[in-house]
Amino acid sequence: MCAKQVTKKPGAQVETTGHSWDGIEEYNNPMPRWWVWTFYACIVWAVGYMIAYPAWPLINGATPGVLGASTRADVAAEIERFDAANAEIKAQLIAAPLTSIPTDQTLMAYAEPAGGAVFRTYCAQCHGSGAAGVEGKGYPSLLDDDWLWGGTIEDIHLTITHGIRNTTDPDARYSEMPKFGVDGLLEPAQIDAVVEHVLAISGQEHDATLAVEGATVFADNCAACHMEAGEGDRTQGAPALNDAIWLYGGSREKIKETVTYARFGVMPAWAGRLTEDEIRAVAAYVHSRGGGE
Ligand code: HEC
Ligand code: HEC
Repeated sequence: MCAKQVTKKPGAQVETTGHSWDGIEEYNNPMPRWWVWTFYACIVWAVGYMIAYPAWPLINGATPGVLGASTRADVAAEIERFDAANAEIKAQLIAAPLTSIPTDQTLMAYAEPAGGAVFRTYCAQCHGSGAAGVEGKGYPSLLDDDWLWGGTIEDIHLTITHGIRNTTDPDARYSEMPKFGVDGLLEPAQIDAVVEHVLAISGQEHDATLAVEGATVFADNCAACHMEAGEGDRTQGAPALNDAIWLYGGSREKIKETVTYARFGVMPAWAGRLTEDEIRAVAAYVHSRGGGE
């Protein structure tokens, strides 16, 4: 056994507590001095702390403490400091003609990071954190130059301000594809044929005979919105069908589903929820991502 056992100094008289179990007695040694003083110091510190800082919870808030310290007020002051520092550039961003923003280096130096922050907070849940969209779910990529409603900064600004097909903003962009299947506008055979035509114009494997038949169905029922060659129409938000970019999916099954049931992609309006400088910043951010026109 090498463990050191401290019991009592040789010859010293140590009191016991009087407890005894099977002849084993309990010493009543005093606590070490340093420990006792540290303990008292802690009590003094705690009392001082309670007087100086917020400590006791009350119904509304806590005792404020004589120093008036508040981390919440510190944050508010910091935010105010940043707002004040950015007030000037925000005012410039609001005053500038929209079309001049993308080429104005000073404005873009502010708008890019500020718009990026707005995007990650309010847009990423639908459009993806990198703005690449979610294919098949109707959330378009904002990185390419395939635009539903237009890719100039003015178009993008309008889309963000009023949203798309929402019921809250009377100026929202609006269009509605008919439900050709469920509303009986086309026979099932006509739907199968027009689907083959869409596969054909988008450069996919298709049934050539059916596709010829489908071309007529397309000209009569679809070209008014998607245009003759399927190049789409931005005034109606009708997507191009003659490319490999799909909102809801370009497989035979998905196209048939779209023609049968139609789609109704909704985007909220941001006017009122975001300030004008935030909307302009995020519009400039989206415009700068690669597809801006
Ligand atoms: C609730 C989901 C949702 C949120 C949040 C959202 N969007 Fe959208 N957004 C959509 C949908 C759906 C569409 C496509 C609508 C359609 O089919 O026409 C769209 C379309 C767009 C378009 C038009 C793209 C084109 O090709 O013309 C832009 C620009 C856009 N969003 C920007 C934003 C920005 C910026 C934000 C954040 C402030 C945002 N969106 C937030 C769902 C959303
Ligand atoms: C009144 C205008 C209108 C007509 C007519 C119309 N469409 Fe559409 N179509 C749209 C709109 C708008 C969308 C986008 C819907 C959305 O974003 O929610 C769309 C979407 C689609 C899509 C999905 C594209 C993608 O990227 O996923 C396909 C496929 C399609 N239409 C095919 C057709 C076919 C085939 C016809 C004719 C039988 C037709 N449409 C007739 C307006 C129209």
